[in-house]
Amino acid sequence: MRVLVTGGAGYIGSHTVLQLLQEGHEVSIADNFSNSSPESVRRVTSLAERSVVLRNVDLLNQADLNAMFQDIQPEAVIHFAGLKAVGESVAQPLKYYRNNVTGTLNLLESMESVGCRTLVFSSSATVYGESTALPLVESTPRSATNPYGRTKLHIEEMLEELAASDGRWSIANLRYFNPVGAHESGLIGEDPQGIPNNLMPYVAQVAIGRREKVGVFGGDYPTADGTGVRDYIHVIDLAAGHLAALDYLQESKGAHTWNLGTGAGSSVLEVIDAFARVSGQPVAYEIVDRRPGDVAENYANAEKARLDLGWKAERGLEQMVEDMWRWQKMNPTGFDEIPASEMTDEELAEFLGS
Ligand code: NAD
Ligand code: UD1
Repeated sequence: MRVLVTGGAGYIGSHTVLQLLQEGHEVSIADNFSNSSPESVRRVTSLAERSVVLRNVDLLNQADLNAMFQDIQPEAVIHFAGLKAVGESVAQPLKYYRNNVTGTLNLLESMESVGCRTLVFSSSATVYGESTALPLVESTPRSATNPYGRTKLHIEEMLEELAASDGRWSIANLRYFNPVGAHESGLIGEDPQGIPNNLMPYVAQVAIGRREKVGVFGGDYPTADGTGVRDYIHVIDLAAGHLAALDYLQESKGAHTWNLGTGAGSSVLEVIDAFARVSGQPVAYEIVDRRPGDVAENYANAEKARLDLGWKAERGLEQMVEDMWRWQKMNPTGFDEIPASEMTDEELAEFLGS
């Protein structure tokens, strides 16, 4: 299939593009490099030994987007492009609504303009809000605790209304739990800018010596060891879930929702322990105050994805940490900075070819 991947230079996008290429799909990527580097795409093409079309396109620029759709004529879209930092969304809500909601709206209109009506969307377990009914099933009522989460909620609703209005659409809302890990080659992985917001990249930077110690947000939750429990999912398993959803959409119209998680939780201290063990490095930590908005525990019921898609997460915490550590060691400061948001499509093609 001809698949367009928005945000394909990013963390989850790059791992998914690799699998799409390995499965024989023709892949185009649209990214504005606001949180990524074309270096990830160069490494993906070298791992897959296949090429991709890489376009410097901002979803907020409808004219560019339409022109790209006319040119590429994709049969399906996987939509990762979005902003994802919870704290930043609280400080700058309009930026999040514009980028995530308007960006998606533009994308849908461009898809319609070429008759492409198959979409896989990156949603998040954040749409379960502060729900404490565990494990979380797809029918758990949705809510949002911050603007980032509310953009995901609005987009899910927009997609459901669109599918209800026109039976030609096939849409998958994939609700990710906590994506971590990296490709086993150590060549691609998550490259957070500045101080990582999420636990696993923070722990990795402590293990490599870039940061002094992990602040553990709360030690008095009603969990086995008092620290927060989350459903960490290996990014390779997560990427595979997108290919399974794409297959499913070939045979099925309408809007569908699946949790992508392992179904089991790990605590903050278990993650720190696993990292110290795998890396052989001490990982200093200190219990500090709870982070506002955090729930004690959160994990998926992933049965629906198993039954409908034949998909199941295969990799456990140990492997997530091993792969993350390899990526961290091989790329202690992430990808090299490349001023890609200024690059033309021709310059990007040349960069990938070099
Ligand atoms: P990421 O930041 O690495 O990737 C997102 C990509 O989208 C980046 O390459 C960025 O440059 C691009 N982008 C952003 N706005 C754009 C725009 N207007 N036009 C074109 N490109 C744009 O993030 P990720 O971790 O790979 O996340 C991918 C998606 O999955 C996001 O939508 C995110 O909200 C969602 N998600 C991520 C997590 C997580 O923990 N990583 C969890 C749940 C859901
Ligand atoms: C966070 C986001 C969520 C988003 C998800 C993507 C918040 C409130 N939620 O989820 O919207 O979809 O990332 O993966 O930001 N922790 C520490 N110290 C740290 C960092 C985290 O103790 O420095 C703890 C947290 O309290 C939590 C666990 O580690 O118990 C995981 O945190 P994190 O990686 O930020 O993910 P979530 O909070 O689950």
